[in-house]
Amino acid sequence: MSNPSLLILAGDGIGPEVMAEVRKIIGWFGDKRGMAFDVTEDLVGGAAYDAHGTPLTDETMAKAQEADAVLLGAVGGPKYDVLDFSVKPERGLLRLRKEMDLYSNLRPAQCFDALADFSSLKKNVVAGLDIMIVRELTSGVYFGEPRGIIEEGNERVGINTQRYTESEIDRVARSAFELAMKRGKKLCSMEKANVMESGILWREVVTEVGKDYPEVELSHMYADAGAMQLTRWPKQFDVIVTDNLFGDLLSDLAAMLTGSLGMLPSASLGAPMANGRPKALYEPVHGSAPDIAGQGKANPCACILSFAMALRYSFDQGDEATRLEAAVEKVLADGVRTADLLNDEGITPATTADMGDAVIAALDASL
Ligand code: NAD
Ligand code: IPM
Ligand code: MN
Repeated sequence: MSNPSLLILAGDGIGPEVMAEVRKIIGWFGDKRGMAFDVTEDLVGGAAYDAHGTPLTDETMAKAQEADAVLLGAVGGPKYDVLDFSVKPERGLLRLRKEMDLYSNLRPAQCFDALADFSSLKKNVVAGLDIMIVRELTSGVYFGEPRGIIEEGNERVGINTQRYTESEIDRVARSAFELAMKRGKKLCSMEKANVMESGILWREVVTEVGKDYPEVELSHMYADAGAMQLTRWPKQFDVIVTDNLFGDLLSDLAAMLTGSLGMLPSASLGAPMANGRPKALYEPVHGSAPDIAGQGKANPCACILSFAMALRYSFDQGDEATRLEAAVEKVLADGVRTADLLNDEGITPATTADMGDAVIAALDASL
């Protein structure tokens, strides 16, 4: 049987820097755990625009559809701000999500003990935190029609449409209930049913799906109150399910509970392929971080932990995923810190490569 295939799209800014560390980790699992992958690389975002005039070529899109899993770094950067909206780097990522139909975006927010002091919230509020945000990723206001900027009278109007079908809500709700069953059996659904019809439908459908999961304790919250509760006492949550835009905001907020955006991985999953594996793309939650790009300062943990999610959700290697997560945790416990994980000006931070090497050393020590 051939090896599972991985398509790496490193992208822009710190994307290629953090992905270089993930490549070391992939190599380690091949050498030391006999888990060889067929790795191909391609361009996405600004890098693809520079080479081909589009943030994602049809050829790359086709490769992504065929791959057992896609690993993405980050896209975007100020250099591309002037581009027409249709070819902006972010459009490449959105096309991947839409055409692969990756409707369920898992964004875990876990606070490693070693970083509990580093969160902007009090230690007792975040210590031991382990929540999972399930963000709907292929619909809602990101994709709804009509959209655009139109002329109306003597001024322009910017239009986006929040739109959800029952089946779109049903399938993401099911994925969230399934996760809740494997975790703490609590699910909180967030929308704004008080002001949005799509929120009313969201709440109705999630409640209906909940009847198939009687063991899961389901609650509902308005998304603005949810943001408040996430900062007040995040440990009240286990799994949160929410729409595309609210999920975007709430997951960045959750990132800071854990100490840094540089720590947060994600998995974007779709329907099973012929081989039983879900269509899948793994990427850090953070962006291309233009302010630190090219300086070796980026924290590669979010991207490394995204590969751990690939081991768990695409390759059925939960134990190896746990090994990698434990290695990251050990490195942090040992005090290795990239600049984003340091308050103290007096300490010399670890570089991106130092952090990757330390994770490799911790993996070696785990054998
Ligand atoms: P960002 O996530 O790139 O950066 C926000 C802040 O967090 C910056 O100060 C950055 O230095 C810091 N940061 C982010 N990741 C880090 C890491 N791994 N290590 C250390 N520090 C890190 O968000 P932004 O500045 O709003 O966006 C920059 C560009 O990235 C934009 O073009 C945006 O559209 C794009 N973006 C892409 C993705 C993606 O590819 N999935 C996600 C978010 C933003
Ligand atoms: C994210 C990003 C993306 C989003 C952008 C870059 C398209 O912010 O993955 O969270 O808004 O979904
Ligand atoms: Mn975002």
